[in-house]
Amino acid sequence: MKLSLVRPTFTLEKEFLAIIKDFRINGEQDIEGLYTHCGENFHEYVLQTQLIEAGKTFANMIVPYSTYWSILDQERIIGFSHIRHYLTPALCIEGGHIGYSICPSERQKGYGKQQLQLILNECCKLGINEVLITCDFDNVASYKIIEANGGVKKGEAISPKSKKVVFHYQVHL
Ligand SMILES: CC(C)(COP(=O)(O)OP(=O)(O)OC[C@H]1O[C@@H](n2cnc3c(N)ncnc32)[C@H](O)[C@@H]1OP(=O)(O)O)[C@@H](O)C(=O)NCCC(=O)NCCS
Repeated sequence: MKLSLVRPTFTLEKEFLAIIKDFRINGEQDIEGLYTHCGENFHEYVLQTQLIEAGKTFANMIVPYSTYWSILDQERIIGFSHIRHYLTPALCIEGGHIGYSICPSERQKGYGKQQLQLILNECCKLGINEVLITCDFDNVASYKIIEANGGVKKGEAISPKSKKVVFHYQVHL
């Protein structure tokens, strides 16, 4: 099974709706928050990913970011990732450069590790060579993925939102 990244595209609406359904039936309602923000209008969502990447962000979205869908065997979308183009003081505490998820039905099959590897390649292309990834202290799957991709724990902070400890990892590319 080959995992690759695709950019949001109007042609994959059926596949996009299938992954959203996968998250939701497993109780993860708002994993791709921009879609909700766009009133669940797929066309508007795809358009907004392009505008946000170009720096024409919504007021409450802090920095420009690029969105990627992870697609299995050119058929099914199974994950979402985002690369933030730069950090703010708030993102240095929680958020970092990268956010990612694999849909519940495809977890624990190694795709999370593969997906982060692909995303780190994209960071390189964007000229981000010192990557900050943050993760909740109790998100075992996430920090295993980060460590498997060369992440080194550099520190931790308290999340202003959840008040939980957040680990800070650096990946040098
Ligand atoms: C984090 C996430 C992307 C992991 O995806 P995944 O495809 O299951 O990851 P992998 O299959 O590559 O597993 C990586 C490792 O974590 C382990 N793992 C996966 N899920 C686990 C769980 N729920 N509990 C404990 N370990 C887990 C795997 O066994 C594997 O361990 P190994 O290195 O010893 O073999 C996925 O759980 C997810 O989308 N979570 C919700 C969103 C999220 O938390 N994103 C990260 C924010 S920082």
